[in-house]
Amino acid sequence: MDSQNIKVLAIPGSLRKDSYNKALLEEASRLAPEGVDIEVYRDGQSIPPYNQDMDGDLTPGPVLDLRARIREADAVLVASPEYNGSITGVLKNLIDWASRPYGQSALNDKPVAVVGASASRFGAKWAQELTITVLGNAGAKATGGPHPVAEAPKIVDSDGNVTDPDVRKMLEEVVAELCAATRSATPV
Ligand code: FNR
Repeated sequence: MDSQNIKVLAIPGSLRKDSYNKALLEEASRLAPEGVDIEVYRDGQSIPPYNQDMDGDLTPGPVLDLRARIREADAVLVASPEYNGSITGVLKNLIDWASRPYGQSALNDKPVAVVGASASRFGAKWAQELTITVLGNAGAKATGGPHPVAEAPKIVDSDGNVTDPDVRKMLEEVVAELCAATRSATPV
């Protein structure tokens, strides 16, 4: 982080093209205040299933890129749906790769915030709770949550813009909280 700007890597837990969770992150990026750059990670499809045999000299290039982008970011924002009452396989896999090699987690001490949308009225809240636990085990510092967004098809328009004012406000508040945690964690 330079004296002014905060760089946030925004990671979706869904690979779906029209993912509501990706839409949350894109909206957070558009709503970000001056001096906060939110880059949405769109390469989840290129991350293979975790295999400890591959985690050394054989680490796949996309995984090295993911780790580098997390390290370069001052903070991480996650938005994920819930699958069968839990964290999505895509997101868990990505966190597992990011957490290794042992003792060198790219997420170590990284401020993270977690939001999530689902089609149901529960807003992926159980998945978010579990994600916060998993991120903590990987060394990250969660800034709070969960932030459930229920009935996701109602909060976006046909172009994928988040139109619901309460959800837009929540995104602004979560980003502000994440930036405050990042600033206070970074020595001046
Ligand atoms: C779901 N969905 C879902 N929703 C929920 O609230 N709780 C759940 O446990 C599940 N489980 C679940 C499992 C699987 C395999 C799928 C594919 C879906 C529905 C989910 O909320 C919906 O598909 C969202 O639209 C997924 O988020 P994205 O892809 O739009 O970000």
